[in-house]
Amino acid sequence: MQNFNKACVNCCVCFCLSFLPSTEEPRLSHMRRSSTLTPPARGALVRTVEIAGRQLRFWQHFMDKPVVQPRRPGGPRADLTGLKLWPVSLRMLDHLRADVLPALRAERDRPLRVLELGAGVGSLGIGLAAVGERVLLTDPGMPVWYSEDEEGTTLSWLHANVDTNREVVGERAAVAQLLWGDEAHEAAVKQWDGGAPFDLVVGADLLYDPDQYPALLRTLAAFASPRTTAVLGFSRRHPGEARFLKSAERVFADVTTRDHIADGPAQQRWAVSTLRDLREPT
Ligand SMILES: C[S@@+](CC[C@H](N)C(=O)[O-])C[C@H]1O[C@@H](n2cnc3c(N)ncnc32)[C@H](O)[C@@H]1O
Repeated sequence: MQNFNKACVNCCVCFCLSFLPSTEEPRLSHMRRSSTLTPPARGALVRTVEIAGRQLRFWQHFMDKPVVQPRRPGGPRADLTGLKLWPVSLRMLDHLRADVLPALRAERDRPLRVLELGAGVGSLGIGLAAVGERVLLTDPGMPVWYSEDEEGTTLSWLHANVDTNREVVGERAAVAQLLWGDEAHEAAVKQWDGGAPFDLVVGADLLYDPDQYPALLRTLAAFASPRTTAVLGFSRRHPGEARFLKSAERVFADVTTRDHIADGPAQQRWAVSTLRDLREPT
């Protein structure tokens, strides 16, 4: 997905390319098949990541053989990139733990209520639950064929990852369907766990497809409250990201972005944007 092209975001070539490993994530170095866990599908690989001294495990699927996917004529535009863990999610987790959670925690003196958009395999949200926050992880729940005879949804994949880490996250992590801009999904998510506004809304690597920006912004606005901070981390891939941030400034009064260069030989450029203070509708 490094060079994802807006025009072909859902075509089968890009879909398959999106499952190729990124240059900084050697294909099998942190991944193995596990004999003690039940994989959500044949061909799934588990990656182990240490967060705050606890081992978290995330199932991924690279679809080594292209699999014909269910057709969605006129259906919602969402893709299957969420079957893979994207490196920005782990960088964002470090950033949040170092620079965002301590201040929000000090203000609230209780675990934060966190909403994750486009959670994919759940590495960011599960990581936040592992360090004590209460997290609702969401994804659009697209139907997917893992192989020619194994069917599921991106949401059931996310569920499998939360359940795999249940011993660490306890009841602090839950899963719900949320296609950006879908008002029925948003209304259901707002009722979660008593229905108080979220303290933190997070999303990792969600800015690759400019076609999705209006829906993403609508959803960010729908979950904003005077005490909500939204944080998006993204790989720098194309000029569309800057256009997204300009549009975000029309919706939020306070939008700040910090650029970073990732450690490692690829020196990938990534950024983290913080969005606060929803403007009054004009
Ligand atoms: C590149 S993946 C990132 C997954 C995960 N956040 C990570 O960093 O590993 C993009 C995620 O956005 C989700 N997504 C894409 N379009 C969406 C939409 N319109 N509504 C909700 N989620 C969407 C995908 O399902 C996928 O989980």
